[in-house]
Amino acid sequence: MTARVECVVTTGVVAGPDADTTPMENNVWIIGDDEQAMVVDAAHEPDVIATTLGDRRVVAIACTHAHNGHVDAAVALSDRTGAPIMLHPDDLELWRRSFPSRVPDEELVDGRVIDVAGTALTVRHTPGHTPGSVSLYDPALRRVFTGDMLLSRGPGTIGPEDSDFQAMIQSIRERLVTLPPETVVCPGHGDVTTVGEVGERVEDWLRRIA
Ligand SMILES: [Fe+2]
Repeated sequence: MTARVECVVTTGVVAGPDADTTPMENNVWIIGDDEQAMVVDAAHEPDVIATTLGDRRVVAIACTHAHNGHVDAAVALSDRTGAPIMLHPDDLELWRRSFPSRVPDEELVDGRVIDVAGTALTVRHTPGHTPGSVSLYDPALRRVFTGDMLLSRGPGTIGPEDSDFQAMIQSIRERLVTLPPETVVCPGHGDVTTVGEVGERVEDWLRRIA
């Protein structure tokens, strides 16, 4: 059976020292078929995500980065499904702010491949938004899951503490907009776009700030 991609939009209030009380909407991406699935960014509402997963075997809960609003449902979903939580090790410090007594199960290191439902997602370490931000690229599905690194409007947000502006530009230029232009960009918030469309926006943005 061919893998399909589903998007579940969940809503929650972000916790932590930098939080405000504005509810935030996140895209939770589910890649799989009728038998198995993986989750990209278990955000806010574990029950809603679990309902969408149904009785499928969950092979991974992959975290694009460890900001609270992208991982706050990860532990509850892992406990419920038995799926391993995966995170790049450079975001462990951030992770501990949300879950001081539980560590992720596996490392999302650059080049790692996650197999699910007959397709394969490759980890691209794309630091910048946070040190351990990753994107997950699937050439067969023509999709890249970018978390907060690349949104439909262009580059993701730069926080005062966790972000590195130069690293973000470098990651986007060298590791994301270099993907085939027809690749669909599936971000952590908002609409999808394509690498071709967002690549032009990124270059405009870079020209404006130069
Ligand atoms: Fe973030």
